[in-house]
Amino acid sequence: MKHARIAGTGSCLPEQVLSNEDLESFVDTTDEWIRERTGILQRHIADAHKGESTASLGAEAAREALKAADMEADEIDLIVVATTTPDQKFPSTACDIQNLLGIHSGPAFDVQAVCSGFIYGLDIANRFIATGGAHNALVIGAEVLSRLVNWTDRSTCVLFGDGAGAVVLKESEEPGILSTHLHADGSYNRLLHVPRGDGEHALGQYIEMRGNEVFRMAVTTLERIVEETLEANNMDRHEVDWLVPHQANHRIIAATARKLNLPMERVVVTVDQHGNTSAASVPLALDTAIRDGRIQDQNILMLEAFGGGFTWGSALVRYLA
Ligand code: UT7
Repeated sequence: MKHARIAGTGSCLPEQVLSNEDLESFVDTTDEWIRERTGILQRHIADAHKGESTASLGAEAAREALKAADMEADEIDLIVVATTTPDQKFPSTACDIQNLLGIHSGPAFDVQAVCSGFIYGLDIANRFIATGGAHNALVIGAEVLSRLVNWTDRSTCVLFGDGAGAVVLKESEEPGILSTHLHADGSYNRLLHVPRGDGEHALGQYIEMRGNEVFRMAVTTLERIVEETLEANNMDRHEVDWLVPHQANHRIIAATARKLNLPMERVVVTVDQHGNTSAASVPLALDTAIRDGRIQDQNILMLEAFGGGFTWGSALVRYLA
C-alpha cells in the first residue's frame, strides 16, 4: 500500500461580502443574535453575473492548491469534487473544473455528502492513491449554497455562505493521511434537507432545518467520531496539534474542542468570516491555517464534519510540509 500526503492547499471566496448588518436590513434578525448563537459575522455570496459559480470557485481554489504544491495541472490524474450545489445536473462539477484547468484525462467525479463531502472526497482520493489508482489527486469542496437559501427564513438564511477550498493529495513515502472515518444514517433525513417538493414543483428549492435537533446530534456525534479517530490511531488527545472542524456553529466547534481538551487557540475557526460553506468549509479552514503559518510541518490535524443525511466523518492527518 502506498501513502498520500497533502502537498498544497488553496481557496477561493466570492468577492461580495454579506454582513450581519446587511441581513438586518431585510430579515427580522440582529447582529447580536447571529454572533451569540452562531459566531458568524459575515459570509461571501457568489454573483452569477460576475461568472462566479461552483465550478469557477472550485477551479480557482484548485489553481491555488497546485501553485502551493508547485505542480502543473497536467500532473493531476484524479479529481474529486464534493458539492451539494452543482451548477447543473450534468456534466459533473468535477468535469467542469477539469475542463477549466485544461486537464484531459484521469477520472473526475462529484461526491454528494453535504457538509461531510470534503472528508468523503479525501477518503476516496486517499484510497485511490493507496491502491495505485492515482498518484496526484485534487480534492475540492465547492459550494454556492446561497442558491438554496430562503432569504425570508431567518432561522437558516443567516447561516450559510459560498466558497471553495482544495487540496492536492500526492503519493508519498511517509503517511500524511493517517486514517479516515466515514458514517451516514439516512433516517435523520427530515431534520436537515431541501425538500423534494410535490406536484408542479418537482424539486424543493430551499434548505429547511430543525436547527436545535441538528445541533444536539452534531455535538454528540462529533464527540464520538473524535474518540473513534484517536482510538483507531492509538493516540492520546494531547497529541492532536490542531482541530480543523466543519464550520457550522462556533458553539458546536467549541464543544468538540472541549472533548479533545484543546484550547480554542489550537482550533481553526473561520465560521466568523465564511459562515457555513458546507463541503467547502473544512478545506477553506485548512488552507487558512496553513497559509497564515499556524499549521506547521509534522503537526497532527483532526479534520471532522457533520451534515445533512446525516453524514459525518473525520480524518487524522500528519501535515508534511
Ligand atoms: O452544517 C450542517 C449542520 N448544521 C448545523 O450544525 C446547524 C446546527 N444548528 C445550529 O447551529 C443552531 O440550532 C441554530 C444557530 C440554527 C439556531 O440556534 P439555537 O440556539 O438552536 O436557536 P433556536 O432555533 O432554538 O431558536 C431560538 C430563538 C427562537 O425564538 P423563540 O421561539 O425562543 O422566541 C427563534 O425564533 O431564536 C429565534 N431565531 C432568531 N432570532 C433572531 C431563530 N433564528 C433567528 C435569527 N435572528 N436569525
